[in-house]
Amino acid sequence: MTGLSLKISRQRLINPKVAVIGGTGRMGAWFSDMLKPHCREIMRVGRRTAITPERAAAKCDVLVFSVPMKDTVKVIRKIAPLASEDALLMDLTSVKAKPMAAMLHFSGAEVVGAHPLFGPGNSGNSKKTCVLCEGRGKAGMVWIREILESSGVNVLVSTPDAHDHAMGMIQGTNHFASLAFAMCMARSGLSLDALEGFATPAFRTRVDRVKNMMGQSEELFGSLLMENPSALGFMSNYFEGAREILAMVKQGDIKKFGKMFESLKGYFGKVDEKG
Ligand SMILES: NC(=O)c1ccc[n+]([C@@H]2O[C@H](COP(=O)([O-])OP(=O)(O)OC[C@H]3O[C@@H](n4cnc5c(N)ncnc54)[C@H](OP(=O)(O)O)[C@@H]3O)[C@@H](O)[C@H]2O)c1
Repeated sequence: MTGLSLKISRQRLINPKVAVIGGTGRMGAWFSDMLKPHCREIMRVGRRTAITPERAAAKCDVLVFSVPMKDTVKVIRKIAPLASEDALLMDLTSVKAKPMAAMLHFSGAEVVGAHPLFGPGNSGNSKKTCVLCEGRGKAGMVWIREILESSGVNVLVSTPDAHDHAMGMIQGTNHFASLAFAMCMARSGLSLDALEGFATPAFRTRVDRVKNMMGQSEELFGSLLMENPSALGFMSNYFEGAREILAMVKQGDIKKFGKMFESLKGYFGKVDEKG
């Protein structure tokens, strides 16, 4: 990208026109609301909106992709070439390597990848973090970073590959474990009411997590497990670990169990005993 087009891009980011492809969906709506005070116009685009993705892409200064993970590269391939070369392209996808490679390949515009590490309905008090990955150009990165931080969102800068690898563990394996736990509960022969009556605080925390998942789409969780190339390896490790623990329990091998427990303490470092 030339110095001239980078300069133009910076001007376009002053009070820009933004198109959010997927702006009628959950994350796209959250992102549109956050950007609204910083933009001249926000076009929230879905498959049934009056404005089509094609028209919105041609008219905007900033083009954001927030569509289901499995469709993201396909939508980028079709829509990204229609944006101006001095626009900014972004995506909010929960995996970063493939969507960013597609934005860079199918357009000469500036590119920033983003992944909000929270759900759109997450109104808890815990600090929210959004990962940003630099694709092409600097102005877009500075622009979105300032908006996120002024909205109280912490920014973590990463590469697409490092993001996807960590997320394979954090989202892939974490949700895999929650689903296996949910499956075990549903097949236990005990009703939810019966189990909740006996619930310990730790059990309640786990059940609340599963209930939160059940309120969201199967597409999101299926894609988190299947679209991240690192997730399968971590899930297999998890499965192996569970198998090893089961074998120790079956054999009543408390010595081996103790060694395994000690080695885990080594990983987690010193923690206060809470009881
Ligand atoms: N939900 C989360 O917790 C979360 C968190 C972080 C990141 N993300 C990421 O955010 C993105 C969107 O997820 P979501 O949960 O917001 O999904 P969602 O609620 O299902 O919304 C998807 C949006 O994409 C639109 N869309 C679907 N196919 C399209 C197509 N072919 N062309 C144009 N628009 C299309 C939908 O439009 P219609 O109105 O026509 O259906 C809708 O606006 C995903 O990449 C996901 O990884 C989600």
